[in-house]
Parts: sequence; C-alpha cells; structure tokens
Amino acid sequence: MPTEIPSLHAAFDNKFKIGAAVHTKLLHAEGEFITKHYNSITAENQMKFEELQPEEGRYTFEAADEIVDFAVGKGIGVRGHTLVWHNQTPEWVFQNASGAPASRELLLSRLKEHIDTVVGRYKGQIYAWDVVNEAIEDKSDLVMRDTPWLQLLGEDYLLQAFQMAHEADAEALLFYNDYNETDPIKREKIYNLVRSLLEKGAPVHGIGMQGHWNIHGPSIEEIRLAIERYASLNVQLHITELDLSVFQFEDRRTDLTAPTAEMAELQERRFEEIFQLFREYESSITSVTFWGAADNYTWLDHFPVRGRKNWPFVFDQHLQPKESFWRIIKG
Ligand code: XIL
Repeated sequence: MPTEIPSLHAAFDNKFKIGAAVHTKLLHAEGEFITKHYNSITAENQMKFEELQPEEGRYTFEAADEIVDFAVGKGIGVRGHTLVWHNQTPEWVFQNASGAPASRELLLSRLKEHIDTVVGRYKGQIYAWDVVNEAIEDKSDLVMRDTPWLQLLGEDYLLQAFQMAHEADAEALLFYNDYNETDPIKREKIYNLVRSLLEKGAPVHGIGMQGHWNIHGPSIEEIRLAIERYASLNVQLHITELDLSVFQFEDRRTDLTAPTAEMAELQERRFEEIFQLFREYESSITSVTFWGAADNYTWLDHFPVRGRKNWPFVFDQHLQPKESFWRIIKG
C-alpha cells in the first residue's frame, strides 16, 4: 500500500505558516498540490511594480487578482511582494515628462499612488507585505544600496514607504526583506536600519530573511545569530524565499542531470537542521516561504548560471516528497 503523504503545512500548523512562491500557471496546473501542502502563497513576480503598473496609471491586476482570489477561495494566506525595490521597476517611475530624473515630490506622489492603489486593492486579503526589498548594500564599506529610490528621495524613502503602506492597510504586517541576511556585516546593517526605522516610529512589523542558501552554507550558527539579532528588535521574522541550492554560488558546473548522492545527503541534513532551528525560534518566526513549490521549477534554473538545473526544495520534479520532506516534518 502506498504511504499516505501528509500535508507539509499541517506539520507546522501551530508554529508558522508554510508558503510557496507561485505564478498563475502553476496554480492552474497544480492547484491541488499547492493547497494540500502550503497555507501561504507569494507571487514570484506578478505583484512587482513592473507587472502591476507597467505604464503610469495603467494597472494590470489580472494575474495578481487571480492569485489573491485563489488564496481567498482556499483559505490560504497571501504575502505581498514587493512595493519598493530597485529591480523589476519600470524606468518611467524615476523620470519626469521630459525624461530627466523625477523630482522628490513627483516620485513621492507616484509612490503614494502606487501603494494606495495596490495595498488598498487587497486590503484585508494580504496578511504581510514586503514593503522595501533589498535596500542594503552588500559591499562592506557602504550601507545603503545606491538605487534611484535613494538618489531621488534620500534615506527617508523607507520611512515614507512604510507609513504609506500602513495608511493603506492598517492590519497588514509590514516587512523589510533582504538576502545575505546571515552575513555578519550585512546582518548588522539590516539590524541598524530596522532599529532606526522603529526609533523613528515607522510601522515596521517584521524582517524578512530571504533564505537563498545552499547545501554548504551559511552555517546553522550564522543563521541562529541572525535570527537572534533580528528577533531582539521584537519584530516578527518571516523566512521569505527559502531555497537550498545544491551548488555553491561560485560553482559554475552545468553538466549535472541530477544531484549527486553527496549533494542529496547534504541537502537532507541541512533541511533537517534548518527546520529544527526554525522550530526553536517559533515564537519569533511566523511564516516560512519556499521560493517555489517543487523541483520541477525554480528561478535557480536560470540564476546565477543560465540553463543549469537546480533541485532546491523538499518536493522533487514530479511533486513527490524527497527524503528532506520526511526529515523536516518529523520535528
Ligand atoms: C526573482 C524571480 O524568482 C525570477 O523569476 C525573476 O526573474 C527575478 O526575480 N530576491 C527577490 C525576488 O526578492 O523577488 C527574486 O525573484 C529573487 C531574489
């Protein structure tokens, strides 16, 4: 008799939500699989600025609406991703009518309009928003990432964005989201940024740790220190984009058609340890989202090496549970 496959999210039901990044095609093709295993979904791309407002005042909500309707219909939560980012944001946002850089006033009014429209549209249906994504610089001698938002608005843009989002939906939890969040230097920059926002009275309710990790690192200790540091600000923590690449970032091999036995084993061990750690901090961690749903599709198939297959999740290419699945639900 085949073993009954338990629901992934049910294994964590009184701890934290278990999410997947999705797109509308995936919901059409695998809606049942998603509903069985995940109780939170995030649009992988379809709520980004360029998708929602490709031209000034022309909103394209079809895909985003479908995702939210699917979730509401199934009683699944939605994490909104993302309002302010340097990527996937159209050029027009930062330019005035003659193509010169937009004034602070113009850009702020566009930001307010976008946030009011988008956050307002899904008021009460999106439990958490990544308000600002990746505003911190990776290079150790700089703090803020040099983006058009920073150039045209100054550091104040974060406070402004959080206030606008809070005005549009006072119930939604508002997050600052970033990657390399366990790197000790970047971790302190993120900590200081969120701390100073809180000191200014900004409605920041949580820190999103993206969790684009691999089977070798970061170490459990580094992840633990980051969780503790962020949690010390008394904000919620969401793991927002979890994937465990089988390759180190520098590894440029493209010849594998399946993970090696060593990769698979390391991944199983890492998934087990990482979820044990998440359980330890379940009073701070309220949501854990994978940046995909199963190994049949991941953005890592194209990044950082184009066309190189990756297998970063706990479900395989046929949506079947991998050994990692059994290890993490055990608890
Ligand atoms: C990625 C998507 O997965 C890709 O499909 C897209 O081509 C580029 O963006 N950090 C984030 C996510 O916050 O929005 C990114 O998603 C991955 C890195």
